[in-house]
Amino acid sequence: MLTREENELICRVGPGTAMGAFLREYWIPAFRAAGLEADGAPRRVRLLGENFIAFRATDGRVGFFDEGCPHRCTSLALARNEDNALTCIFHGWKIDVSGKVIEVPSEPPERRAEFAAKVRVRHYPVREAGGVIWVYLGQRETPPKFYNFEFNLTPTSYGMAQRAVMHCNWIQGLEAVLDSAHLGILHTSWLRKSSGSTALSMVDTGPLFETVMKPYGFREAALRNMGDGTFYGRIREVVLPYYSFIPNDSPLPQFLICATPIDDEWTAQWYFHYYPDRPMDDEMRKYRDRGHSGDWDNFCSDMGDGNNLWRQDRKAMKEGHWTGITQCLHYEDFAVEESMGPIVDRTREYLGASDTIIIRVRRMLLSAVREHQRSGKLAFGADQEVDYSKVRAVAIRFSPKDFNWKETDFTDRGAVVPLV
Ligand code: FES
Ligand SMILES: [Fe+2]
Repeated sequence: MLTREENELICRVGPGTAMGAFLREYWIPAFRAAGLEADGAPRRVRLLGENFIAFRATDGRVGFFDEGCPHRCTSLALARNEDNALTCIFHGWKIDVSGKVIEVPSEPPERRAEFAAKVRVRHYPVREAGGVIWVYLGQRETPPKFYNFEFNLTPTSYGMAQRAVMHCNWIQGLEAVLDSAHLGILHTSWLRKSSGSTALSMVDTGPLFETVMKPYGFREAALRNMGDGTFYGRIREVVLPYYSFIPNDSPLPQFLICATPIDDEWTAQWYFHYYPDRPMDDEMRKYRDRGHSGDWDNFCSDMGDGNNLWRQDRKAMKEGHWTGITQCLHYEDFAVEESMGPIVDRTREYLGASDTIIIRVRRMLLSAVREHQRSGKLAFGADQEVDYSKVRAVAIRFSPKDFNWKETDFTDRGAVVPLV
């Protein structure tokens, strides 16, 4: 349970809010890079309660500006995109890809140069990696080091970024992913359909949880006793403020989820699938395509909403499906998250032992945002030299006598022989 003030503090992300200022300090996955064509249409982007546009210039560079033209706020989504610059269609002001105003044809010719030099365009540093355009919306002259996540380092053909838009606050998205307790309940029908190692999760339904704190968040293992001297360990990594690396059994691709705020009441839930060492194959495509709408900018667009109870099928429930949400496993998550309302009232909760991780993450976020408010200090590794390329979730079977999961570097695949 949180107080009303605490709930407001962690949920609200718009301009002028404490959490908004804090999250703007971190590189954010803004949108899928696919489809952003050189000299093509600028793309509207809403993040943290603000509207931006991004465009690919003639030479391939990406510009990221506030949406409103600096003159009188006409949307630059309407602008002409040519000659490595955007030109507002209203009075022809031209802004180059670096955010410099280079032409103001609406001014008298003799003062154009001087006038243009004075106009400030709010523009932001971007990176293109992992099939995604990332942006830094913070105030610092030099942004924190860019995330060298493994999927940001591999060629884009090795993976795939998908995004789903949910009508709820970003903390609801984050908490649903952190919550391990729901796996065997909410998703029970999907798990029953799966085979192989998922069955191992059913052998011991009361796993032991162990955690190791890291500068960026923590590593958490769900350890299940297989009854033969071995353990099945599902080890995930949480990189705050919002990334969860989820274990997948071989030969499935690496997988992570993050929930980024579009605004207080809307969230982009990102799914990244990738192989560290080889291009996407049919296995990944199969995995990727399971039951989604096919629109990778919003893959849950066919999910339904509160008005039709997310297309819950009562007949399927009578026939044995646990949730009646039969399109795909992820929609079960999204439906429960949205069903709490746009911003859940956390003063009304009864938290139990299974909510330990959620309680911990709330405390970590609250303490980081308060410290940032007080001193401007960054958290979660952004102020340190962290090698994010080593962050990897794994599913392993091992004997605790001769294997210590807490000390194993899982990027060295040779060190992890007992992969399931
Ligand atoms: S509003 Fe854009 S040039 Fe006038
Ligand atoms: Fe789930």
